[in-house]
Amino acid sequence: MAKQNKQITITIDGKKIKTSPGENLVKAAKTNGIFIPSLCYFESNESPLGTCRVCTCNIDGKPSPACMEKTREGMEVEVNVDELKNYRKAIVEMMFSEGNHFCPGCEKSGNCDLQHMGYEMGVSRSRFPHIFKDRLIDFNPKRMIIEHNRCVKCRRCVEEVLTDDNLQVFSFCNRGNETVVGIDYEQEAKLSEEQALNAMHICPTGAILVRGQSFAKPFGDRRFDMKSVQKDYQKQLPPENPDKPREPKTIATISLAGCFGCHMSMLDIDLELLDLVEFVEFNKSPLNDIKEFTKRCDIGLIEGGCCNSENVEVLKEFRKKCDILVAVGECSIWGGLPAMRNTIPLRECLEEAYLNGITTEPGEYIVPYDTDLPKILDKVYSCNEIVEIDHYIPGCPPDAHHIWKAVMNLLWGEQYSVLYSEFKYD
Ligand code: SF4
Ligand code: SF4
Ligand code: FES
Repeated sequence: MAKQNKQITITIDGKKIKTSPGENLVKAAKTNGIFIPSLCYFESNESPLGTCRVCTCNIDGKPSPACMEKTREGMEVEVNVDELKNYRKAIVEMMFSEGNHFCPGCEKSGNCDLQHMGYEMGVSRSRFPHIFKDRLIDFNPKRMIIEHNRCVKCRRCVEEVLTDDNLQVFSFCNRGNETVVGIDYEQEAKLSEEQALNAMHICPTGAILVRGQSFAKPFGDRRFDMKSVQKDYQKQLPPENPDKPREPKTIATISLAGCFGCHMSMLDIDLELLDLVEFVEFNKSPLNDIKEFTKRCDIGLIEGGCCNSENVEVLKEFRKKCDILVAVGECSIWGGLPAMRNTIPLRECLEEAYLNGITTEPGEYIVPYDTDLPKILDKVYSCNEIVEIDHYIPGCPPDAHHIWKAVMNLLWGEQYSVLYSEFKYD
């Protein structure tokens, strides 16, 4: 049947827009400059999947996935309602908790819809406990690698990846929590390189990778790098209250097993640091060389993880003396570069460093063992493995303005927007 030319009027967040009847709602909103977050939906699919629920909006007063709705005269849609924004964010956070997503080490970073949705919604941590499932990484297919730990079961691959004989390559196996995407090796082997690449692009996460193609486009030039489809999404936060005076607060900082890069970044706000010191006092910190706590602090900023016994002691002391503890940078969050040694037994590391390494002085074949030296731990620990951490500021190092805006938010409850360009890192 020919599509009707008649235009209808629908209302989205109070704004009246003209569109064709029977148009997909997510698409109609996008055409009119309104962003409805979505993940499993993609425009070329005539029959939306409706599997993720990230696009949930109030439609004529009822919550419903927008990608499953077609436009009709008089339709009333609410997108940017605080409660819905929170629900949508919670869904994305659950996806991060359910799988193993470590974006800086992921081949799909910058090209990944899930990562992008996380940035758009301001997800910096998940409120749900991580499940840490140990799923298979399947290297058996001819052209692809399937990383099941990153699959969000959106069903895109099942519906869209077909051979020339119209046979499915992917299917869902098992049920409920145990559901995984199965791949038919025989059918996969029939795919051309172009069809395999299409499968990688269809997948909204880094679950489907094509051998030799994951880094074909360098970081920085990727689809979502340095751009936001909805720049204003996070600017809808309430503005900070300029009338509320800032109470003076005390900050402590420390660098454990790190490179001091995060501390250098903290100084990178240049002259704004002078404004900051008007209402914060630094206590124990390498920034002022105060070596011991002289009072309880409102916030402690931790750079670096724990590689020796002294790091552990200092971190525990920070936990005791600071009301809020923030892990700043990758080394404090997961161990970072120093944690590369975690894949090698400690004995081998010490032998390489002190006995067999090319920098070992002839005749100086000794592993330092003085009792005054802190004991090296069996591995490098992230801070949250030792003490409870209240907040995380990722980055290597995180941007200076981002660190201080986060700190101000925590100390004085000041709201701010995390701009995509500021928070995006690879
Ligand atoms: S699949 Fe996406 S969200 Fe998951 S680790 Fe990779 S880039 Fe991050
Ligand atoms: S492999 Fe990718 S496309 Fe397929 S269900 Fe998982 S996330 Fe979706
Ligand atoms: S985008 Fe609508 S349910 Fe996934």
